[in-house]
Amino acid sequence: MRPALGAFALVDGEFVVIERIDDDPTTIDQVAWLEGQLQASGRSAIEFHVADGDPIREVLQQRGYQPSGTELELLADTSREPEHAPLPDGFRLGSLRDVSDDAYIDGHRAAWSDRRPSPYRRELHDAVKRMPGFRPDLVTIAIAPDGTVAACCIGWMDQRSATLEIEPLGTHRDYRRLGLAHAVVKEVQHRAWANGARHVLVWNDRTTNPAAYGLYTGADMPPGRTLVALRRELPATPSS
Ligand SMILES: CC(C)(COP(=O)(O)OP(=O)(O)OC[C@H]1O[C@@H](n2cnc3c(N)ncnc32)[C@H](O)[C@@H]1OP(=O)(O)O)[C@@H](O)C(=O)NCCC(=O)NCCS
Repeated sequence: MRPALGAFALVDGEFVVIERIDDDPTTIDQVAWLEGQLQASGRSAIEFHVADGDPIREVLQQRGYQPSGTELELLADTSREPEHAPLPDGFRLGSLRDVSDDAYIDGHRAAWSDRRPSPYRRELHDAVKRMPGFRPDLVTIAIAPDGTVAACCIGWMDQRSATLEIEPLGTHRDYRRLGLAHAVVKEVQHRAWANGARHVLVWNDRTTNPAAYGLYTGADMPPGRTLVALRRELPATPSS
């Protein structure tokens, strides 16, 4: 008999997402095991996000976890056909099928270099395209009259929860405040609806990115759950 999957964890640096199929192991068994694994691999901290009001928060805080921030789930209802939003003259909407990979990489870099130069490059772009669930038609792009990728967004569809997640979305620094991101968000919602999704989801920290909060809430994506980040420093493993 093949062993059944009871629980799993996704580890991204110090940030960990855990899921369980049933109660064996318990959440705390899983947390304790993961703390040991991360510590043994040399990480100095571990962080979980839990929904505000979930009793697991209390359990983690008793174990030494401290709140270290919050994040909102902003959700669009796409059970009915969303409206389109207008674009400035000469711009058009497309997908990764309508632009070259190099044009997309340039557009992404120009959108994500406000604080430091974006490390996005061909190798990372190719890795993104190889990710399970990646769909070129769900990469929504606002294309400038000269072909520049002026705003872009990747949509990740989860058929099981009928939810499309936005990650990432950005507007080229030379094309800001023209309504392009708004039009892209509405187009993403439309593509989600056309593909059977009932929700579009994006995570946002209102304190660190108020522009994105204004963008999404102004495009019919009000806040749903609040997620609380709970972090614990891990003692250093003694060197042998
Ligand atoms: C946030 C971002 C995507 C907005 O792109 P944009 O094309 O300039 O946005 P739009 O012109 O469509 O603006 C839509 C709404 O977003 C909000 N907004 C956009 N830029 C803003 C800013 N600099 N300050 C405050 N609010 C802002 C406003 O509510 C705006 O509506 P309004 O013009 O009626 O006030 C862009 O600034 C960007 O790419 N930033 C870096 C990457 C990023 O943070 N992405 C979002 C996280 S996934």
